[in-house]
Amino acid sequence: MTPRRSVFKDESKLDINYVPRRLPHREEEHRLLMEFFNFLLRFPERMAQRVIITGDVGTGKTVLAQRFGTDITSEANKQGVNLRYIHVNCREYRGKLFLILQHALTAFRPTFPSRGYSAEEILRIFMQALDEDNAFVILTLDEFDTLIEKEGSEAVYTLTRLQEMRTGKPQRLSLISVMRDLKSTERLDASARSTLQRNVIRLERYLKDQLVDILNDRVAMAFEPSTVSEDVVDLVAELAVSESGNARFAIELLWRAGKYADAEDAGQVEPECVRKAVSSILPTLRRSELTALGRHEKLFLLSAARIFKESQKAYASLSEVEGAYAVVCEEYNETPKSHTQLWKYVQLLSALGILKTSVASTGAHGRSTRISLPAVPTVELERELSTLLEKERA
Ligand SMILES: Nc1ncnc2c1ncn2[C@@H]1O[C@H](COP(=O)(O)OP(=O)(O)OP(=O)(O)O)[C@@H](O)[C@H]1O
Ligand SMILES: [Mg+2]
Repeated sequence: MTPRRSVFKDESKLDINYVPRRLPHREEEHRLLMEFFNFLLRFPERMAQRVIITGDVGTGKTVLAQRFGTDITSEANKQGVNLRYIHVNCREYRGKLFLILQHALTAFRPTFPSRGYSAEEILRIFMQALDEDNAFVILTLDEFDTLIEKEGSEAVYTLTRLQEMRTGKPQRLSLISVMRDLKSTERLDASARSTLQRNVIRLERYLKDQLVDILNDRVAMAFEPSTVSEDVVDLVAELAVSESGNARFAIELLWRAGKYADAEDAGQVEPECVRKAVSSILPTLRRSELTALGRHEKLFLLSAARIFKESQKAYASLSEVEGAYAVVCEEYNETPKSHTQLWKYVQLLSALGILKTSVASTGAHGRSTRISLPAVPTVELERELSTLLEKERA
């Protein structure tokens, strides 16, 4: 029997990092952003806009900022303004401002040896580079709350003070801060907060019909014709609404359902595929969370996944995982991190709800920490992490 064709035409259109040309139900917000900055394009030397984008998980904050970034850059180029859009996820840089700015600087001075400089110094060098290149920047600080958590008001001052001291010189740096909850700005002191909160764009949770529109766009891009019925789209949207209108959940669910369809050689995505897919997605584990982990955090988690996969045990001790981690590091040509560092990974991963820790008494030896992986299938986790680690290597 010849296998049927895949239901997918182009899976990459369902990738979490894909930025579609059109964002249904975010047109208004996109227009608003364009208006804020279009005005500035006429007076680029006043480029010091500050905007906050906020909204729950999966409401399109990141994709809206990125879509806008591409669009405003091409608009600026048409008008002969040297504008760059830089999108940084603060969590990927551990909420450390100097790492974030270092990254931003590489867009202009890729070989600059910024080791050993403070955030303030790097920003100064950055602004100087902008002056030299007569360039303007819109810097988006995604998952801004991690920066606030790490560095508080000081980071906001660093970001804004320098610009304010540049009297007589053109303003060149605009900021877009992205966060799920405005509450995180409550940790800032009043003046830092008011510096940021000039324009707030709030994205509401998607309703079912809106999710249907978003999904239909993706179906047309990613699937072969007539492989996804209206009912299936409806079912996916319905399920995503109960996940607080999270568009990421909806798209991931659609992708997984397609995977089940292919695995069963079904030729089209049946509702049953969606049901299987939904039971395979666990609320504690999202692909994006894994992607955001550091390299050694991934290696460590991969070690835990392997231990549990091979042993069929429910619990492992930290030293067991540490042993497996040493092997994994060798495999990936990495120098293992210290015990203290691994302990920090355990804490982080359990805060994310991926690992769980508990204390067990070990008779004569007193107490020790046990690690478990309660809610995530190990096979899936191992596969996902290996793919990510390979991608990073490439
Ligand atoms: N209006 C939309 N049209 C098309 N795709 C969308 C839309 N809104 C969100 N998406 C898609 O849904 C997924 C989640 O969106 P996004 O990553 O922007 O959410 P977010 O608000 O940044 O979530 P988080 O708070 O978890 O970071 C992405 O794949 C994105 O492309
Ligand atoms: Mg986001």
